[in-house]
Amino acid sequence: MSRETGRYRVTKVHDEQVRAFIPHPLPPAKPPLVVAGEIAETHGAALTALARLGVAAALVPSTDWFLYGFVRKEAVLTSQIEGTQATLRDVLTYEATQQTDRPEDVEAVCNYVEALTYARKQLANPKGLPLSTRLLCQAHRLLMRGGRGADQQPGEIRRSQNWIGGSRPGNARFVPPPPEEVAEALAALERWLHSDDPLPPLIKAGLAHVQFETIHPFLDGNGRIGRLLIALLVEHWGLLGQPLLYLSVALRRQQQEYYARLAAVRADGDWEGWTAFFLDCVREAADDGVDVAQALHALLARDRARLVGHKRATVAAIQLLDELPKHPVVTVPHAADVLSLTAPPTRKAIDVLASLGVLRETTGKQRDRVYAYHEYLRILTGDET
Ligand SMILES: Nc1ncnc2c1ncn2[C@@H]1O[C@H](COP(=O)(O)OP(=O)(O)OP(=O)(O)O)[C@@H](O)[C@H]1O
Ligand SMILES: [Mg+2]
Repeated sequence: MSRETGRYRVTKVHDEQVRAFIPHPLPPAKPPLVVAGEIAETHGAALTALARLGVAAALVPSTDWFLYGFVRKEAVLTSQIEGTQATLRDVLTYEATQQTDRPEDVEAVCNYVEALTYARKQLANPKGLPLSTRLLCQAHRLLMRGGRGADQQPGEIRRSQNWIGGSRPGNARFVPPPPEEVAEALAALERWLHSDDPLPPLIKAGLAHVQFETIHPFLDGNGRIGRLLIALLVEHWGLLGQPLLYLSVALRRQQQEYYARLAAVRADGDWEGWTAFFLDCVREAADDGVDVAQALHALLARDRARLVGHKRATVAAIQLLDELPKHPVVTVPHAADVLSLTAPPTRKAIDVLASLGVLRETTGKQRDRVYAYHEYLRILTGDET
């Protein structure tokens, strides 16, 4: 399939002529994107997998249960695509201990969680911002907050020409639209998102991501905001009740193909190739989420039974175990806070869970000890983080 997805405009950057690409507004046209054959099949499989993920989440006592871990898993993975080194364990340990010197890598992941949380609240609130360029700018402001993003114009649409790959625009792999074209390109994307285009919503979410990456409206953080956009659309369009899909696992695993598919839309108009790839990533991520959710559920049930049968079990220990999915890394003060208890019964609860091997001390120190729900984290992280 071949079609034209945009036009080139020759501009000058630092006395050098470059060809900037300005995408045509969505949807794909001449010819339109047809949902048939392989795409229809892959789409069906992705929807089925998403529905199963929704059911798996509904089986546990509260959705907070998976939400905490799954959202952070996505935050870590989307940041790893960017080059951030922090692991899920680093982030959870930081959240439990609140050390004052937060490493920049951990900050980047926490910022993603805040940006997502903020955007979801806006969309859920009738008086909040709608799905819009403004919403994405506010999310970008939160994402780029702090050390590393400070000089990347947080929250602002770029005012200069950027490029992808290469040392300067002249030898870049891809030069996004000139700055004066960006606002209109984003406005067109926003209009399309609110239009009644009959393409299936999941496919539209994938198209919107490509369009956003092609516009590349920010100086940095375009990949992460574009992936956050997918998460928002999947929830907003009712494909999943909660942001439980950690798509970035699949995108990172196939990072070269991810980038190549984005490039092929621009170069060859290959929306079909992108769409099949994207839907396959969704299916893979949702299937993985179901497996992980079931394994976590089984682990919790098993550990609860072991704890209840333990002669030193206390009510606080059972309560703490029930809280661990939302706080898989704890310290005594942190757990005391969660349980609204004083330190002595909290310490006893932690000791009981440690003697059962549920919690493991991770620092080897005598003071300021940190305990992790080791098996839970092993299942949650898989071999990815
Ligand atoms: N050839 C390409 N055409 C269009 N978009 C691309 C291409 N290659 C990469 N991208 C997109 O650009 C993103 C990188 O842009 P940027 O550095 O602004 O975002 P980031 O969030 O800081 O980093 P990252 O996306 O790597 O996490 C990639 O993640 C991808 O989504
Ligand atoms: Mg970057």
